[in-house]
Amino acid sequence: MGYDAKFRVWRGDLDGGELHDFTVLVNEGEVVLDIIHRLQATQAPDLAVRWNCKAGKCGSCSAEVNGRPRLLCMTRMSTFTEDEVITVTPMRTFPVIKDLVTDVSFNYEKAREIQSFTPPADLKPGEYRMKQVDVERSQEFRKCIECFLCQNTCHVVRDHDENKKSFAGPRYLMRIAELEMHPLDVGDRTELAQDEHGLGLCNITKCCTEVCPEHIKITDNALIPMKERVADRKYDPLVWLGNKLFRR
Ligand code: SF4
Ligand code: F3S
Ligand code: FES
Repeated sequence: MGYDAKFRVWRGDLDGGELHDFTVLVNEGEVVLDIIHRLQATQAPDLAVRWNCKAGKCGSCSAEVNGRPRLLCMTRMSTFTEDEVITVTPMRTFPVIKDLVTDVSFNYEKAREIQSFTPPADLKPGEYRMKQVDVERSQEFRKCIECFLCQNTCHVVRDHDENKKSFAGPRYLMRIAELEMHPLDVGDRTELAQDEHGLGLCNITKCCTEVCPEHIKITDNALIPMKERVADRKYDPLVWLGNKLFRR
């Protein structure tokens, strides 16, 4: 049985906007993205929303539902009561392009700043060997669908635009950790992680982990091990002595 739901959807652009009220039909089994599509079809044909797969796998439909960062296609209407007002707003951390669509190019810029996978120069394709435990570690991080909900949620940048320059965000600190823990990678990103990519700004609040739709343990499995590596490096007596002698 269908029912009429009350929706409040933010509409506007970089110059400003406001919440618009709609009453819209909801059918059994629908998700928030279905309702946004119904609004487009019936009441607001120019309402902008980004989406692709409707299966939680492309990472396009990220927005905020009742203030919580969510994938619109994975947020079931059955999680709300029928009389609840459902507010849908764009991700707060990124500049709005139009309505629910944000400009997420910050993330692509951060991705480009990270040194890519660097295998030993003499290792030929076909000679790569890894232990299963290392494969599994990488696979967890590789589940990332680049929805940027973790990037949107992290308090270091959520209300602090000024930190964006010096903070890669959980998704890209996780990428650095993945490469650092990769047994076939010979790059060294430890100091850069701390000095350039802002690892020190993360105070392990774990909000990123809480919103990840792929349930990746970003904080426990990537950020904390990466912090431990930085600490090991800093307090290793040989490294300390080397820094004293050669970095004056
Ligand atoms: Fe999205 Fe999770 Fe990847 Fe962050 S780590 S971008 S929350 S899938
Ligand atoms: Fe931000 Fe996640 Fe660290 S939310 S502070 S990157 S644990
Ligand atoms: Fe692809 Fe939602 S439309 S994740």
